[in-house]
Amino acid sequence: MCGIVGYVGNKKALPILISGLKRLEYRGYDSAGIALLSKNGLMVAKSAGKIARLESSISPEDFGNCSQGIAHTRWATHGEPNQINAHPHTDNSGEIALVHNGIIENYRALREFLIQRGYDIKTDTDTEILVHLVRFNYDGDLTEAVRAALNQVDGTYGIAVVSSLHPGTIVASRMGSPLVIGLGNDENLVASDVSAMLEHTNKVVYLEDGEIATITAEDYNVTTIQNVKISPKVEEVTWSLDQIEKAGYEHFMIKEIHEQPTTLRNAIRGRINFEEGIPRLDGLNLQYDELRQIKRLILTACGTSWHAALIGEYFIEEMARVSVEVEYASEFRYRSPIIDEDSFLLAISQSGETADTLAAMREARQHGATTLGIVNQVGSSIARASDGGVYIHAGPEIGVASTKAFTSQVMVLSLLGTLLGRMRHLSVQQGQEVLQSLQLIPDQVEKILTLEDQIKKIAAEYYKSNNFLYLGRGINFPVALEGALKLKEISYIHAEGYPAAEMKHGPIALIDENMPVVVIALKDPVYDKVMSNIAEVRARNGRVIAIANEGDTEIAERVNHVIYIPETFRLLTPLLSIVPLQILAYHIAVMRGCNVDQPRNLAKSVTVE
Ligand code: AGP
Repeated sequence: MCGIVGYVGNKKALPILISGLKRLEYRGYDSAGIALLSKNGLMVAKSAGKIARLESSISPEDFGNCSQGIAHTRWATHGEPNQINAHPHTDNSGEIALVHNGIIENYRALREFLIQRGYDIKTDTDTEILVHLVRFNYDGDLTEAVRAALNQVDGTYGIAVVSSLHPGTIVASRMGSPLVIGLGNDENLVASDVSAMLEHTNKVVYLEDGEIATITAEDYNVTTIQNVKISPKVEEVTWSLDQIEKAGYEHFMIKEIHEQPTTLRNAIRGRINFEEGIPRLDGLNLQYDELRQIKRLILTACGTSWHAALIGEYFIEEMARVSVEVEYASEFRYRSPIIDEDSFLLAISQSGETADTLAAMREARQHGATTLGIVNQVGSSIARASDGGVYIHAGPEIGVASTKAFTSQVMVLSLLGTLLGRMRHLSVQQGQEVLQSLQLIPDQVEKILTLEDQIKKIAAEYYKSNNFLYLGRGINFPVALEGALKLKEISYIHAEGYPAAEMKHGPIALIDENMPVVVIALKDPVYDKVMSNIAEVRARNGRVIAIANEGDTEIAERVNHVIYIPETFRLLTPLLSIVPLQILAYHIAVMRGCNVDQPRNLAKSVTVE
């Protein structure tokens, strides 16, 4: 998704803006641009492609002494990713520049409105319409011109605006696309997320939807779009910069895979009352009797988070006997779902900004449902739109392919399922048994990570394959889906996840010596059936990579490769079985020379529908 950085202060803005954009690269983009305010007015530079190309087009002597500006990385939604469509966009006088994340739904009507009034529209973008609208409403006050323009707009936006008519001022506003203000000493910043400003300050103010900020080097003030003054809370960011750096790993993704023992401990920390065998999830803002009243739980998410939701369904239904349905957020919001005030909707999202998930949550709320969130990004839109929720505390996840966030989402869902179970029929001892197993998971993941070299050797044998099939049963069926998604999104190999039993209903036609099959075959009630599925694959010259439990020597004679993982409580096995699949996908992608952290066409947070 697009990234915004703005700076106003007493330092040279150019290096601050460029390094800020680089910290946002992980969000995914295809063009970049910058506007700086000099004594001669606004100077704009834009280019298609990566930030390095933008940098090479800028002469520091032209831009070097400016101390105010805005910059942008664009992930194309309207208009192809080229230099002219890149942001910032300027009005016809060149006195106002604007950068924008989001989609202006009514931009065509506004475009006609402006053309009829003599405005010269140069690009295919919805964003350009916005800057002309600001100009149309300008009557000496930049903030009021932005307010008036936004009142004419339908859609989502995160914007930053500067003007040579108002040196020393940045106007910023958001509706559905995140913006945060960074508070420095005689300097202030605004950006899409805190990673762009952590070098300068850890004191931040998260803008809410429908708020407008007027920012100068010394001060800032926030009003609603209806011009009601707001006094937002100043928060302190605890994430350090090195959490954002690669810490010596080749890619963010492998760093984040190896962070999982730590991030899983963070997901549990302070959330287990072992004496009572009860997890503590106070952030849900639900009393025990309210938890008991939950009869129907809707889990909604996208992508990897949707796979976590599927695992949550198996866990919660079995442990708490609460009816759970899992919904793709993009489908849920448009299919007239049955929701009422007895419904509980739980949105799961790493970024907390996924447009489809946020919209599904709002749809449920409009029908009276209680809306909860399991989110990583503190202060994100989904977090703030929830009646209650649980932060997974996985820290910034920079790699586009989600790994540590997924296991922490599953961990929190396991805590939730245990809590709901204890509110119903689970005894103290049963609760303690689950929590005891759960507390061992981080160390067990640590042990699996030591298998990386073995997994890398397997990757070397299969990285040239064009297709993969992933099979699992029960609570490990969603792990097969997630393993397949990991592989396809970073290596561009076509991979499908299937319930193992489903293979005979079609996919078995694909099996031959060129179709590697990854099978999660753990010692559980359906182990024998999975072994039959493996035999069916081998009978057709299929090659099998099995994820199996330590000590299972039988399987070693039946497959081509075995990756052994420790045993745990059956409903917690996804927390372990996914780890080898993450590592396998990573090394295959590296061997194929893919851009592992920023795969083609993908964005870290899909803030458009
Ligand atoms: C995960 O590897 C993908 N990058 C993608 O499917 C992601 O899970 C999905 O876009 C949902 O994102 P969210 O968790 O931030 O809502």
